[in-house]
Amino acid sequence: MIVEIEKLVFGGYGFGKDEKGNTYFLLNSLPQEKVEVLNTKKRKGVFFGVAERIIKESELRRQPKEDHFLSCSCFQILDDTFEDEIKKEIFIETFEKISGTPLEDLGVPLFYEKTNRFYGYRNKMEFSFIGKDLAFFKRESHEKVKINGCVLAKEIINESAREIVGLLPDKKIYKSLILKADSNNRVIAGLFVTDPDFNFNLEKINFKKLNGFFIYYSPKNSPASLPQKLINSVGLDIFEEKLAGKTFFHSLLSFFQVNLEVFEKAINDIKKYVCNDKVVEFYSGVGTIGISLSDVAKEITMIESQREATELAFRNILVNNVSNVKVLNKRSEDSLDLISKEKVVIFDPPRSGLHKKIIKEIITKLPKRIIYLSCNPSTQARDFSLLKGYYKVKFLKIYNFFPKTYHLESLLVLDSI
Ligand SMILES: C[S@@+](CC[C@H](N)C(=O)[O-])C[C@H]1O[C@@H](n2cnc3c(N)ncnc32)[C@H](O)[C@@H]1O
Repeated sequence: MIVEIEKLVFGGYGFGKDEKGNTYFLLNSLPQEKVEVLNTKKRKGVFFGVAERIIKESELRRQPKEDHFLSCSCFQILDDTFEDEIKKEIFIETFEKISGTPLEDLGVPLFYEKTNRFYGYRNKMEFSFIGKDLAFFKRESHEKVKINGCVLAKEIINESAREIVGLLPDKKIYKSLILKADSNNRVIAGLFVTDPDFNFNLEKINFKKLNGFFIYYSPKNSPASLPQKLINSVGLDIFEEKLAGKTFFHSLLSFFQVNLEVFEKAINDIKKYVCNDKVVEFYSGVGTIGISLSDVAKEITMIESQREATELAFRNILVNNVSNVKVLNKRSEDSLDLISKEKVVIFDPPRSGLHKKIIKEIITKLPKRIIYLSCNPSTQARDFSLLKGYYKVKFLKIYNFFPKTYHLESLLVLDSI
């Protein structure tokens, strides 16, 4: 089938139509291209697939750096200088469609933090396996593709991954390998295997680079990197990072932002909207945002559901010697009593966005300001559509936390009307 691509949409798909007027969402395609697609899947009346042949090429198209680019970063085919513009367009399209509000009605400009670094920025990678070879899942398919590293990752992560794989015995028990690196190029690695009795001599690992190495049993049918039992380990599962003038400990399995250079810019922007306020921060992780605000806020209560992240946040409060920050190990939706009219409420939720109970509580209590950092414009726009009758937009900005991928981060500041 021949498809003419009109625009790029969220997910990194080129949106277009064939001569019969059928709608397609195609990876490996760019606006104004004419492409051929052979295999498609029909979902809800539209076709999804990967452009196999480019008949008319966009002048923005570039040779991808890796064969597996569709698995990790579909915008490797896009000239770097256009990525910011394209992401801005994708954000506007998604936000307007889902929130039902044209951007021009918000009364504030849409800011965009220009991208400076497109590759080698990720401080964390999660690899899958084919046998004992590293692999990624293919998009629009259940198959995997063998890889040798990834250009999005810091080089030390790729080097360590190859080194670990080189030492592994030939078995079909490897599920996933997570590697995290800090800014001093120290690495923590976690190998997830389906054999609870896997016996591996950890002395073989070169500890000049590895801070710690952990082998977990994770049953075949459970999600990829969900540990059921620690089989063996050596070294430390923790490291220290400097961010926005503070020190943060984080671990292999606790959430930590992958692109610190850009995250720091978002923290600095958030700081501008807090001034001697009482703050409650939901979904706080190891405390990066809350603790960074300790100099400008009156007091901050952070809420985090993961036990390990909460303990690390507690440690981070101590190590930074901040007396006006506390952390509670609770689910956000069970901490509604912390929302009140005079507070600034901060959210940085997972991709699913805000819990319905939280939205309901906000509409009831109307806290004076909401600062909402999001990694998913669709759910942020959905939540905004529920709040917009009660709040006006004070600030809106996009950050390219994940260059070359279709993902983006957006910061929305709302003031009660
Ligand atoms: C996107 S991360 C943000 C963390 C932190 N702001 C940062 O940038 O490092 C979301 C965090 O929310 C936590 N989380 C997920 N569901 C939650 C819930 N229902 N209540 C509280 N925290 C939750 C996760 O464990 C994770 O640490």
